[in-house]
Amino acid sequence: MAKPLSSRRASPLAGSARVPGDKSISHRALMLGALAVGESVVTGLLEGDDVLRTAACMRALGAEVERRDDGSWRLFGRGGGGLMEPSDILDMGNSGTGARLLMGLVATHPFTTFFTGDGSLRSRPMRRVIDPLTRMGARFVSRDGGRLPLAVTGTAQPTPITYELPVASAQVKSAIMLAGLNTAGETTVIEREATRDHTELMLRNFGATVRVEDAEGGGRAITVAGFPELTGRPVQVPADPSSAAFPVVAALLVEGSEIRLPGIGTNPLRTGLYQTLLEMGADIRFDNPRDQAGEPVADLVVRSSRLKGVDVPAERAPSMIDEYPILAVAAAFAEGTTRMRGLGELRVKESDRLAAMARGLAACGAAVEEERDSLIVHGTGRIPDGDATVATHFDHRIAMSFLVMGMASARPVRVDDAEAIDTSFPAFVQLMNGLGAKIEVVE
Ligand code: S3P
Repeated sequence: MAKPLSSRRASPLAGSARVPGDKSISHRALMLGALAVGESVVTGLLEGDDVLRTAACMRALGAEVERRDDGSWRLFGRGGGGLMEPSDILDMGNSGTGARLLMGLVATHPFTTFFTGDGSLRSRPMRRVIDPLTRMGARFVSRDGGRLPLAVTGTAQPTPITYELPVASAQVKSAIMLAGLNTAGETTVIEREATRDHTELMLRNFGATVRVEDAEGGGRAITVAGFPELTGRPVQVPADPSSAAFPVVAALLVEGSEIRLPGIGTNPLRTGLYQTLLEMGADIRFDNPRDQAGEPVADLVVRSSRLKGVDVPAERAPSMIDEYPILAVAAAFAEGTTRMRGLGELRVKESDRLAAMARGLAACGAAVEEERDSLIVHGTGRIPDGDATVATHFDHRIAMSFLVMGMASARPVRVDDAEAIDTSFPAFVQLMNGLGAKIEVVE
């Protein structure tokens, strides 16, 4: 059932809030914990629907996965190559990351796995992982256009490949690297634009050999050596910078706000939004920078700021790919034009985010232009009207972006369905209302 919510002008945001664990790192912690020999204890795991599905899948593939009373997760892995054929279809829900990474993992295990997902995931392109994994020896049967549901029969004798990514995608890179773990020899992925490197960092932490070199002709070549001895270990998941983006932008937009968000991941391949907001004039401080299980983190202090429009270069897209919806909201309150380019990939996310943002912003009274792979927002420095009901297309980030929009608009903004927020940020409404937001269920 749809869950409509309404967000009206917030009080100045104040206080400190715990943003949930990083979604990308949470998926990977469960997958590597399930492959490693011995026990891994994961703290700070995101308990959103996407990640809980990955946990269920790792169990279905034979690993021991349990949530303990203190909120930590204990995994007991199968050892390299030790996954078992799942006895039922793996339902990945809304999760592109879960689906694509797991396809890589099972592609070099000699059994058949069936994958499906919700309506959104069943419409998303999977050819980008099917092609390289087929070259490694796996066989796929999919719906037309390489869509889910699909079946993959893994190969007992995988071929190591060198593969240049046709799209900048950490999911595709990671799928190939995970397949490479159970492949003799070296598997190499070449990426012309750097994408998030959580798989590389965590694999090294679990004991694998991963080499990163400059690629001929530009970019980087990432090589994983087959049959590593992965050993169980503790993983402390940083708070998700992509989720933190919503309270951060809310605090920037609502006058008189000052909030603190401890332990946010600051991996430079994830912080394009923060760089952009600083260029727009945002007052964001990164206190106590430190390392947490191989990932950089810091405590964020954010104060409301007057923002100005900027040009966001296309090269920055991979480091902020999930943050364009909330940046577009910030841009609608800024003074001057913000041009966001190189956004073609946004059309194949949980929804067509370019179209969803353009329509929603226009409905809220902002001046916006949608091009094939750009979004241009003409900020006037005046507060947009709001007073609209926005279609979220079961997309968590569209829903959260427009609830933030309502916190600072002249009149309330409603979203038609906020259900999808549970995929990545289940306590979003409580956290935001705790800081000063006024988000309510529409009766
Ligand atoms: C992710 C990579 C990105 C991102 C997604 C998470 C990951 O997708 O949009 O939310 O964890 O590897 P692409 O790699 O397809 O761009």
